[in-house]
Amino acid sequence: MLPMPLTARPIVRFDFLPGRTVAGKYVIERKLGSGYEGEVYAIVEKNTGVRRAAKFYYPHRDPMGKSAIAYARKLDALRHCQILLQYHHQETATVQKNKVAVVVSELFEGEQLSEFLKKQPNGLSTFEALHVLYTLVRGIAPIHARGEYHGDIHDDNVMIRRQGIGFEVRLVDFFDLGRPNKAKIRKDVLNLVMVFHTIVGGRDKYADQPPEVKYIIRGLKDSLILARFQSAGDIQRHLEALTWSHPVVHATSNGRA
Ligand SMILES: Nc1ncnc2c1ncn2[C@@H]1O[C@H](COP(=O)(O)OP(=O)(O)O)[C@@H](O)[C@H]1O
Ligand SMILES: [Mg+2]
Repeated sequence: MLPMPLTARPIVRFDFLPGRTVAGKYVIERKLGSGYEGEVYAIVEKNTGVRRAAKFYYPHRDPMGKSAIAYARKLDALRHCQILLQYHHQETATVQKNKVAVVVSELFEGEQLSEFLKKQPNGLSTFEALHVLYTLVRGIAPIHARGEYHGDIHDDNVMIRRQGIGFEVRLVDFFDLGRPNKAKIRKDVLNLVMVFHTIVGGRDKYADQPPEVKYIIRGLKDSLILARFQSAGDIQRHLEALTWSHPVVHATSNGRA
């Protein structure tokens, strides 16, 4: 519970500048991103020099600190799932006399998938796109296998970086839609397929996609997708058993063959 003092001015943005001290013991390094609930910064613990990520919740979005607590608990419950950020602890910071909930977690030095895709001049090759999807579904499969769901899978909530010949990804931000059930897991599957559709270049490129891609996207028809895949694990198993009927060399955004 984080009651807001009467004298507090409402905060719409934090916009902390690098070098600023927060919660007494951290220094802001840089802003990593922002979303509906708050802003996320790379921070350095003064005493140790350890770097972490800290999500600062906008008080008007999370007046009682409940979202921050739910996020922390979810990250902790699913801490064995490698695709999620490792949770460290929670803090309360005072910003312009407002009590602000802060969730401190692992710092992932990648970028949002949406930004990453914009920077690929020719889009990803089909093979790379399938690899990104594979890394994602392999990471989400254990969440679905536990009967849990993410609830908000889209290209701003996927963090990515190239790692060796593959990719490393993290899924940030959960959306609490209440108790898990099969329908919520299936919604994750549809969102994953939508992300894959974006990765291969979206609507404009769909007609030119090879069969391996269309087999998964199925024209974005929910019932057709769900007839094949009910969980991230189903997509993972499909990709692991994929046989190549022909060389897949299509580029995704410029039609290069
Ligand atoms: N641990 C982290 N390491 C690096 N960047 C992060 C981390 N957590 C969040 N971000 C970045 O901050 C953005 C906003 O975080 P998110 O949890 O999605 O907030 P919101 O709930 O407000 O959407 C993310 O899209 C991502 O770019
Ligand atoms: Mg977000």
